[in-house]
Amino acid sequence: MEFYLMKFFVDTADLNEIKELAATGLLDGVTTNPSLVAKSGASDFIALIREISAMVEGPVSAEVASTDYETMLAEAKTLAKIAKNVAVKVPLTPAGLKVCKYLSQDGTMVNVTLCFSAAQAILAAKAGATFVSPFVGRLDDIGQNGMELIDDICTIYSAYPKFKTEVLVASIRSPNHVVEAAKMGADVATIPPSVIRQLFNHPLTDKGLAGFVADWAKTGQTIPKS
Ligand code: E4P
Repeated sequence: MEFYLMKFFVDTADLNEIKELAATGLLDGVTTNPSLVAKSGASDFIALIREISAMVEGPVSAEVASTDYETMLAEAKTLAKIAKNVAVKVPLTPAGLKVCKYLSQDGTMVNVTLCFSAAQAILAAKAGATFVSPFVGRLDDIGQNGMELIDDICTIYSAYPKFKTEVLVASIRSPNHVVEAAKMGADVATIPPSVIRQLFNHPLTDKGLAGFVADWAKTGQTIPKS
């Protein structure tokens, strides 16, 4: 059994961003949504998801476009066939959870998205979701406390260890969201590329490294290269 710290997914459909971040070895998956796909400018969604699924080993979320049960299910089956690591994304609606229930029974990964309450997260787990995606940034945007929702969901889920639904913190706006999510024991954070890059940055690291480089230069030595 592999033990993870919180998994990092990148929240984008931009192939260059995914390629660059996959090369760091820190990427555990990718999430896309219809808005991110539109922003990417990709004209062939199926080909885009196929390419992303080949770039990372971990789960790649691809969202259905319809809202009615029959069409969502038909779209979901197409998306699930693209690659083994595709997680079909469905909205947290009665029809979306019905699709989730159906797909989860045949082992398809399902990411239930647009979650904004603990009650909704309970329903997603009962529907057999692989991941539930609570949107913290959008709650903050309307003056609520997105991270409180994460705390509530993690508390509820941890009371029922048999539920396998993972908390995938979404709509992340800052490194603080990432750190707070980890403190609460969330399973995954899906992070915009810009925020991932911010995670690396600290002025004292830069200042300290510059000091080490300058002081080493004073020794006049070099380390032999093998
Ligand atoms: C997951 O992919 C979500 O769709 C995404 O994190 C939403 O982020 P936003 O609230 O910035 O659109």
